[in-house]
Amino acid sequence: RRAAVLISGRGSNLGALIAAARHPAYPAELALVLSNRADAAGLDRAREAGIPAEVVESRPFGRDRAGFEAALGARLEAAGIGLVVLAGFMRVLTEGFVAAWAGRMINIHPSLLPAFPGLDTHARALAAGVRLHGCTVHFVTPGVDEGPIIAQAAVPVLPGDDEAALAARVLAQEHRIFPAALAWAASGAARLEGGRVVLDAPM
Ligand code: GRF
Repeated sequence: RRAAVLISGRGSNLGALIAAARHPAYPAELALVLSNRADAAGLDRAREAGIPAEVVESRPFGRDRAGFEAALGARLEAAGIGLVVLAGFMRVLTEGFVAAWAGRMINIHPSLLPAFPGLDTHARALAAGVRLHGCTVHFVTPGVDEGPIIAQAAVPVLPGDDEAALAARVLAQEHRIFPAALAWAASGAARLEGGRVVLDAPM
């Protein structure tokens, strides 16, 4: 299945997906990388890997989210994309766009959802004093960071952790579960049925 990876920044998760997709048996082809920011470092990773990488800037659209998404959608359609992968894509999508990609769009979030949706998850986990933290890959539904869960990984919060240390521990797990979850979504081993995830894959 032809997948597009949407990014806004560094692109380390994109890098993990690129590495996994190099294996001939990997069920998703990374056919396109789109960034809403021209300065996203992840664009260089894509280009180095020979993946078409394009910028659809969100800024000129201001509050016109639907206008930005129409531009995004046009690129996805032109590239024959069947699966959208949000990998550090920092724009909230409208209900219309989410509905158009229902069951065909996944996101990674750096917390054990439903705990800590939104921003600054690591600082909030530290402030809350949780002993376990982690990351989640989920199908995208209209509520931000709310969709049905495909995969999660937990890490301990250790004495002395600061935000950076905890973020790095979580990120290592993001790089492990995201390629797996994308493979399951692309092969149909993980799919959305009646608003819930059906999973044929071994955990
Ligand atoms: C990751 O922690 C992801 O979960 C979050 O933003 C970060 C993106 O990192 N939504 P990268 O661009 O993949 O390196």
